[in-house]
Amino acid sequence: MKLEGTRISELKAGETINGIYILKDAEIRVSSNKKTYIDMILSDNTGEIPAKWWDAGEEQFATLTPNKLFYVNARVDQWREVLQLNIGKMRIAEEEYQKRISEFVRSAPRKPEEMLEEVYAYTAKIRSSEIRNIVMAILDRKEEKLKYWPAAKLLHHSIRSGLLYHMVRMLKSAEALSGVYDGINTDLLFAGVIIHDMAKIGELDANQLGMAEYTKEGRLLGHIIMGVEEIEKAGRETGASREAILLLKHMVVSHHYEADYGSPKKPMFLEAELLHHIDMIDARVYDYQNATRDIEPGSFSEPVWSLDKRNIYKPML
Ligand SMILES: [Fe+2]
Ligand SMILES: [Fe+2]
Repeated sequence: MKLEGTRISELKAGETINGIYILKDAEIRVSSNKKTYIDMILSDNTGEIPAKWWDAGEEQFATLTPNKLFYVNARVDQWREVLQLNIGKMRIAEEEYQKRISEFVRSAPRKPEEMLEEVYAYTAKIRSSEIRNIVMAILDRKEEKLKYWPAAKLLHHSIRSGLLYHMVRMLKSAEALSGVYDGINTDLLFAGVIIHDMAKIGELDANQLGMAEYTKEGRLLGHIIMGVEEIEKAGRETGASREAILLLKHMVVSHHYEADYGSPKKPMFLEAELLHHIDMIDARVYDYQNATRDIEPGSFSEPVWSLDKRNIYKPML
């Protein structure tokens, strides 16, 4: 049996295509001329694309189960320089094909078990037992889900095992930086890296394929507030000092830096400041590499939303 169609990375403006994609998100909206339409995000293992199903309403919306494979017939349009699909027909794939959905999912390029081992190796380097115990208590609760959890529903590292991949790359970055500058408290920095996004397990609900939806708690609180609660709980359980609990909470609280991005406080000690920048570097590296992976050297990418809609260039050298 074959599951073939145009891959998302191969879509070109003006073409009419048949493809098989995962429905990541769907919402009913009302257009300026008062007609309903459905706004979607579709994905496969080569990328993601927004899609619009014009003049579709509740009846069509009822057929759209997120995180399932769909047959899609569409025209590829370009709107404000971004490619999007204009859906002609769309229907859910048969149950026997749904079993092969993992072939359409992008995963982190490393084995989760290996990455998890590295996280434990960094945890073992934390000398302060009270900080290490908090990290261990949190890891212990999250370990199973951490193996496949994505770091986001749609943005950077929204792939299977993306959260763990993000964590491991940041740990390496943190270790390298602490070799450049003297006086960095690596206990705090490693702990901060490991727990900063850990409450995404809870903010999001993901399946074994790393495909995620926001939970009610995630929407109402978010991973920063949820992370603070987890540190409090783990700190009490392990009998950590108020100072250790407070420092780790501050790192989680300030890691998005700006109130607009969910941080009520900006960093107020060095390791918290560094955590933010290491986090940004990893997200940026991911976004640049993701934008240029499937394009020719010498050409520009589609505008990247997370990089202020810049068109990213792939150098020929
Ligand atoms: Fe975060
Ligand atoms: Fe992060």
